[in-house]
Amino acid sequence: MDVVYGMYVQWLLRCVLFLISLPFLQSKDVTMVIGEVGGAVTIPCTSDLFENHLVFMYVQRPGSNGNNPRFINGYHTKKRLDPKEYTNRTHVDPRQRTMKLWSILPSDEGLYECHIQYQTKKKQENIQLNVTANYSIPIVTVACDNVSCLVTCSSDSGYPRRDIEWSPNPPLNQSHWRVVNSSDVTDPVSMLFSVYSSISVNCSSGPRLNLSCNVGGALSQEHTVCWPQTGSPDVYVTSAVVAGAVALLCFLLAGLFVFKERKAQTARVDQDGEEAARPAERVQLTCRNLDS
Ligand SMILES: *[C@@H]1O[C@H](CO)[C@@H](O)[C@H](O)[C@H]1NC(C)=O
Ligand SMILES: *[C@@H]1O[C@H](CO)[C@@H](O)[C@H](O)[C@H]1NC(C)=O
Ligand SMILES: *[C@@H]1O[C@H](CO)[C@@H](O)[C@H](O)[C@H]1NC(C)=O
Ligand SMILES: *[C@@H]1O[C@H](CO)[C@@H](O)[C@H](O)[C@H]1NC(C)=O
Ligand SMILES: *[C@@H]1O[C@H](CO)[C@@H](O)[C@H](O)[C@H]1NC(C)=O
Ligand SMILES: *[C@@H]1O[C@H](CO)[C@@H](O)[C@H](O)[C@H]1NC(C)=O
Ligand SMILES: *[C@@H]1O[C@H](CO)[C@@H](O)[C@H](O)[C@H]1NC(C)=O
Ligand SMILES: *[C@@H]1O[C@H](CO)[C@@H](O)[C@H](O)[C@H]1NC(C)=O
Repeated sequence: MDVVYGMYVQWLLRCVLFLISLPFLQSKDVTMVIGEVGGAVTIPCTSDLFENHLVFMYVQRPGSNGNNPRFINGYHTKKRLDPKEYTNRTHVDPRQRTMKLWSILPSDEGLYECHIQYQTKKKQENIQLNVTANYSIPIVTVACDNVSCLVTCSSDSGYPRRDIEWSPNPPLNQSHWRVVNSSDVTDPVSMLFSVYSSISVNCSSGPRLNLSCNVGGALSQEHTVCWPQTGSPDVYVTSAVVAGAVALLCFLLAGLFVFKERKAQTARVDQDGEEAARPAERVQLTCRNLDS
């Protein structure tokens, strides 16, 4: 007798559990919709448009714990429904069985339930709205000393939060750079994210390279780092010294020629003003000859 009773209770329990889990099983079937911040999106309540005799339909957002749903907007054949704070942001089309939502905010992201009542049956559709906002083109700064470069990348007004990806070109061994700092902040009003990352590149261990960063598809310009510190500095020092020496030599020679010409002129006692321009020309020619 007890055994039978026990089995009965067990069966009843299972049955109750199954019934409780039904709505959750149903809610697994979710239509995905993606909207951009500031843009508009259409929430499809059903694909089944052949069903006539619509009595009402409405869209609500479930509360965080499954109850206290929030009414968004709807349509009733007999009543006027008040969408309250969604008055100016939503429009229900009872013929298409859709709800349009515009001026999308990050806070609109989440699950929506659409309830439709026909004369003979009712339906529920679940829609997940995900919100995106394109990050701005990242700004890169480079600050180098003789051993390393500190490179920063920042981008703002994006949604959802995204990581900054660094792309060294050519690819750089991970042991040659490290992330110094990375952070993100949320604007309390717009709820959009600003992200920031700084890395330190070891310049003594490789050739110069180009770096760019990427935030959710927004790509920065390429910046050359470890330059000229590591691009064989000897070459630059040498060429600078040579250039300086040549310039000095040229200057000295020019001075010498001017001096000599002046001397010759005074000896000739030239009274023609045009003649004065000639010495300079000759000096230029001399220098050009020296260069080649
Ligand atoms: C909707 O727009 C009207 C007219 O612009 C305005 O008077 C009303 O306050 C707005 N309602 C909401 C909830 O923003
Ligand atoms: C939609 O947003 C949720 C979090 O709100 C996230 O877990 C999910 O991966 C997103 N889906 C897509 C396709 O972006
Ligand atoms: C955001 O980026 C996507 C893909 O890059 C693009 O199709 C879309 O037009 C952009 N939106 C805005 C508002 O710029
Ligand atoms: C880097 O430069 C500073 C001064 O400019 C010098 O004191 C330091 O020794 C240099 N370090 C290396 C590794 O060359
Ligand atoms: C990266 O550097 C480490 C240590 O310097 C080295 O063991 C490793 O082989 C390097 N990897 C590549 C792909 O060069
Ligand atoms: C990391 O960067 C943020 C934003 O620029 C700054 O507030 C913070 O002090 C930095 N932290 C460190 C350890 O440098
Ligand atoms: C930079 O790389 C050189 C050579 O690979 C190494 O000796 C040095 O310790 C590295 N410096 C830092 C700060 O990692
Ligand atoms: C790095 O950038 C410079 C200038 O934009 C370019 O001339 C050079 O080819 C680039 N190097 C690589 C490895 O892409």
